[in-house]
Amino acid sequence: MDIKRETRQYSLVTLDITNHCNARCKFCYNVFGKEHNMDMETFHKALQILPYTKEGCFLLSSLYEPTLNPLFFDMLSQIPRQYKNKVFLTTNLAGNISEGDFVHLAESQLHHIDISLLSYEQETYKNLTQMEDHRFFENLETIHRIFSRYPKPPRLQLNTMILKSNYGQILDLAKRAHEELNPYAHIFNTPATYKAGENVLLTAEVDSTDIVAELLPKEQLTALYDELTALGYKNLIVDISNSLEAYHEKQDIVSPRYPHDAYALHITSNGQGLFLSDENPFDLADIDHPFVFFSKALTARQTYEAAKRELAEAPPLRDHSEDPDFHSFVDTLTIWDEQFIWLHGWAFHRQVECGPLYVVVKAAGNQVVYETVLHERADVVEVFEDESRRLCGFECLIDPQALSYEPKQNYEVFVGVLHEGTLYTKHLTDLAF
Ligand SMILES: C[S@@+](CC[C@H](N)C(=O)[O-])C[C@H]1O[C@@H](n2cnc3c(N)ncnc32)[C@H](O)[C@@H]1O
Ligand code: SF4
Repeated sequence: MDIKRETRQYSLVTLDITNHCNARCKFCYNVFGKEHNMDMETFHKALQILPYTKEGCFLLSSLYEPTLNPLFFDMLSQIPRQYKNKVFLTTNLAGNISEGDFVHLAESQLHHIDISLLSYEQETYKNLTQMEDHRFFENLETIHRIFSRYPKPPRLQLNTMILKSNYGQILDLAKRAHEELNPYAHIFNTPATYKAGENVLLTAEVDSTDIVAELLPKEQLTALYDELTALGYKNLIVDISNSLEAYHEKQDIVSPRYPHDAYALHITSNGQGLFLSDENPFDLADIDHPFVFFSKALTARQTYEAAKRELAEAPPLRDHSEDPDFHSFVDTLTIWDEQFIWLHGWAFHRQVECGPLYVVVKAAGNQVVYETVLHERADVVEVFEDESRRLCGFECLIDPQALSYEPKQNYEVFVGVLHEGTLYTKHLTDLAF
């Protein structure tokens, strides 16, 4: 068993340093209000989340155009060197950006820069963005030229929105971008159909007729999806989590790009923040020690995540540790922040159909039973040559403090399968804290 000790980190932080944009893309979900730019003091506070953020997961300006904040380049310089590879940018690259600015970006050590590439055709670009195309293409050429001179510039990633207006050009666009720019990734996606205000997480979603008018019929989208993936470019991602299926049929299609978990949060240009799947916004102006705040919020999320899956009433348990029909394995045991335990493994009992799996933790005469998160294990199917065991993978977050506050406590950990109302358990490991 592989035991790791790690610090839990945020999976995605999106920070807007402005609330305006120089373009007015037809498909954009923004509703533009009174202009506001983030000040340096608020930015410094927001940066204090960086030690707790995963590499490449801090998005500098997510909803608007970051290069429009007059302090944009000063802000880039303020990112501590050791955390620069946690940060990425997203830009329409349509602003007035000088060669010197591009040199600054090339030397910025950011993880990557996301560029929106909507069309190589002048008319289509103009129609979609309400902007002339010449500056964008000059900037695209300049960024590529300048970045090519550096051994380790930020990686360039392209974003292309698939719309009715550019549908016929998408395949050629993919090929041309691949040949001319060789991007680190090229993401093709479909628009969400709502318009939202500045705090997208707090604002009620209202479907926009402008966006709906740009949606492709399902057959066209599916055909394009097949054609794009058939190109075989390994860095090409088609993300249709906002597709017609998700819209009309209300399917929950998970985006391969963005996590929607409790460890993701958004901060607006006026310093208001909100954790995804959380109703309580915070305001950086009220927080004197953001470093402590973000750390405590991480602990609170883990406590909550564990408690959420804890069974209020456990079924009777029967120890089957010696049962030869009960197979299990722990691939990874991670100790988060010296406090929480994350278990990743698989288990099944040959006489019991695959179903929910449980983890039982015992200490000092107390016990907690968690329902785990299941996932597929093709490797187990292969080894046991048994297709019916596909859904035998499990993940579980254990909060030892739910059991005991004794220091140096010994914990026994079991996996469980439910059979005729009884939880058959098998000993997995012992832990001491
Ligand atoms: C809102 S923009 C902000 C950054 C910059 N202005 C840009 O366009 O790259 C960030 C990303 O959101 C995408 N976007 C805009 N409207 C959208 C919508 N309705 N649904 C999904 N993504 C959208 C854009 O294509 C872009 O890739
Ligand atoms: S998609 Fe980006 S460039 Fe277009 S209007 Fe929205 S924020 Fe501006």
